[in-house]
Amino acid sequence: MPHPYVLLSAAVSLDGYLDDTGPDRLLLSSPADFDRVDEVRASVDAILIGAGTIRADNPRLLVNSAERRAARVAAGKPEYPLKVTVSGSGDLDPQARFWHTGGDKVVYTTDKGAERAEAHGLAADVVSLGADLDWHRLLADLTARGVDRLMVEGGGRIHTQLLQLGLADELQLVLAPLFVGTPEAPRLFGPGGYQGGRLRLVETRRIEDVVLMRYEPTAPGTGPRATPADHHWLRLACELATLCPPSRTAFSVGAVVVAADGTELARGYSREGDDPVVHAEEAALAKIDAHDPRLASATVYSSLEPCARRASRPAPCARLILDAGVRRVVTAWREPDTFVTAADGNGLLVAHGVDVVVLPEYEERAKAPNEHLLS
Ligand SMILES: NC(=O)c1ccc[n+]([C@@H]2O[C@H](COP(=O)([O-])OP(=O)(O)OC[C@H]3O[C@@H](n4cnc5c(N)ncnc54)[C@H](OP(=O)(O)O)[C@@H]3O)[C@@H](O)[C@H]2O)c1
Repeated sequence: MPHPYVLLSAAVSLDGYLDDTGPDRLLLSSPADFDRVDEVRASVDAILIGAGTIRADNPRLLVNSAERRAARVAAGKPEYPLKVTVSGSGDLDPQARFWHTGGDKVVYTTDKGAERAEAHGLAADVVSLGADLDWHRLLADLTARGVDRLMVEGGGRIHTQLLQLGLADELQLVLAPLFVGTPEAPRLFGPGGYQGGRLRLVETRRIEDVVLMRYEPTAPGTGPRATPADHHWLRLACELATLCPPSRTAFSVGAVVVAADGTELARGYSREGDDPVVHAEEAALAKIDAHDPRLASATVYSSLEPCARRASRPAPCARLILDAGVRRVVTAWREPDTFVTAADGNGLLVAHGVDVVVLPEYEERAKAPNEHLLS
């Protein structure tokens, strides 16, 4: 199911709170940062907040800059991004500002919540996602509405779920120089199962007295479902393929092996170093201790389907992956008949219980360093 790019946006106090317990919204960002948030809002197709944030803050959730709204219209977009909220109960105040400002609105809810939301006569499209709120269905529905980029502005329950479900592409976190100090105040992230390892820091920016940090999750998906991190690692494999010494008799391929917690274990590319026939997956796996316990839950990313047969060495890469104990492979491009007819490395892996995920949107990148072999 295609999903929009999901950008989580939040500001926190130095002690990690989203708000205090007072009746008014706690302003954590600086004026220049509020303007940055306005710019991000203007760049997305939809903005989502939870029902808790509507109740606590009664926000308008608008693009405030007239120039940015005009630029959206000039680009053929609606003046305001779609406003989206999530409510299990459907118990939403029809007088809240959310419904009476900006453009179109959608409420995602449950079967029970839909009855209640309809009874409130909300000025919005009410969509039931079944007995429970299914985030995958929600994101697929937004995609069907033409939403390519979704900004999520909290609160904590929403951010927690999207991160724990591996559905967030990016976290934009602003750290504000103040303390809340009240344990009952809402926190950005609640307890539960997060990815084990470290996220990738992609940017830091000082904005007046606050600091913006942008992070990307790094943990591979599990089974056939691809996470945003899977896309990152496969893009990296495709970039590695461009480092290969040129050849007229073999493909240029890149590979990365990543542990379940998002730690990169090794990377490699075809003909790397002094070995003129080494394959990318082979080069990467050779750098990892064969007894490394992380291999059993690791993912191999390869720009080209792992080979099932090869002339240069007895063991093809699909066999090397199986022998290493890896049980998940993500690849961009099925092997053409250029050198081996009907090679089916993916089929071999699947036959031995490996989850193989093909992301064809990266096929052109994987092919790029091999164009001279394909024409
Ligand atoms: N500093 C910041 O950047 C920032 C940004 C946003 C919000 N905030 C603060 O965060 C606080 C609100 O956060 P919050 O965590 O209490 O609320 P929230 O995340 O905004 O919304 C939670 C609500 O969303 C609905 N919901 C979420 N997941 C659901 C699921 N899986 N199934 C069914 N319903 C689901 C439920 O609505 P129902 O109750 O209707 O079932 C739930 O009560 C406020 O104090 C606000 O000021 C701060």
